[in-house]
Amino acid sequence: MKRVLSGIQPTGEIHIGNYLGAIKQWVELGERLGKEAFFCIVDYHALTNPAAYDKDLLAQRTFEAALVNIAAGLDPEKVTLFVQSHVPEHTELSWVFTTLTPLGDLTRMTQFKDKAAKLGSNELIGAGLLMYPVLQAADILIYKADTVPVGEDQLQHLELTREIARRFNGLFGETFPEPQAFLNPEAPRVPGIDGRAKMSKSLGNTIGLLEDERSIWEKIRHLPDDPQRIRLSDPGDPDRTVVFTYLSYFAPKELVEALKEEYRRAGVGTLVVKEILFEQMMRALRPIRERAEALRKDPGYVMDALLEGARRARTVAAATMEEVREKVGLLRPG
Ligand code: TYM
Repeated sequence: MKRVLSGIQPTGEIHIGNYLGAIKQWVELGERLGKEAFFCIVDYHALTNPAAYDKDLLAQRTFEAALVNIAAGLDPEKVTLFVQSHVPEHTELSWVFTTLTPLGDLTRMTQFKDKAAKLGSNELIGAGLLMYPVLQAADILIYKADTVPVGEDQLQHLELTREIARRFNGLFGETFPEPQAFLNPEAPRVPGIDGRAKMSKSLGNTIGLLEDERSIWEKIRHLPDDPQRIRLSDPGDPDRTVVFTYLSYFAPKELVEALKEEYRRAGVGTLVVKEILFEQMMRALRPIRERAEALRKDPGYVMDALLEGARRARTVAAATMEEVREKVGLLRPG
């Protein structure tokens, strides 16, 4: 592993799915790789989501996403943290890639199909939504990143990124590596509070990283129990309730195992487990919330970090883009 890139959309509140599936890994990889770890707030991607896109809020959400990432442990003085639109070479490379990508590869992407199905008619589906994974490929390949820490839902986009790299290399000569996904084996797909679907902003089944404590408790209190445990005296199956899935993310293994055992024997009520879950979750999240509070008092720090990140990212991106222009045969000035 030499260079890492990943991205997050500034489309609203960052949730524990984003944190456990992606950001937590970013922090660890950032510690290992320093400036070779690139993390990007992908504001151009956010434009493709008509439901979440809000002209008056986009800049604020972009700033907030950066702030939350720093609060979660990314050290902008060590890693390269920046905003996608501050490095225009991403969109430039993405155009070249669109010309190499068959339409069929894009229409079969499950994320596109899901989002398009929600919009219904072709008249309402922006072409940007279709091109979304091509821009994602450009985000990654412009840095020639070999590793991409993401949640499981991004594997198909990563496969397409590799195909684009192969196609470009085949046509114009070896240029890009074929990047591999890097999943958090403990939380590749964090379920939502409904206990079934993936936790996702668009489904409204999230627990926000900075959400009010009382509101988090209300959500935890209402998490679905094992549906087959009707009376407290019934034995429960911890694998059939999201309460234990969440507990495994935040509590020490021995505690989780002990509680599972009691739950199986009907020796512990769900409410008690939920109280422990809440305590453990808050213990893990509180330092992030405190750092976020402190950063809010110093917005200049976040902005300066983003500008410095973009400066560093741009030197790498501009060099790749120049190589690409030459390889595809564009007329160069001078
Ligand atoms: P976004 O903002 O939707 O998600 C950001 C990251 O959070 C992960 N994630 C999850 N992981 C586990 N369980 C969940 N419930 C869950 N929900 C979200 C996502 O997998 C992602 O890693 N397309 C990307 C943004 C992007 C990008 C890139 C990523 C744009 N360019 C280049 C990597 C490299 C996305 O889905 O963002």
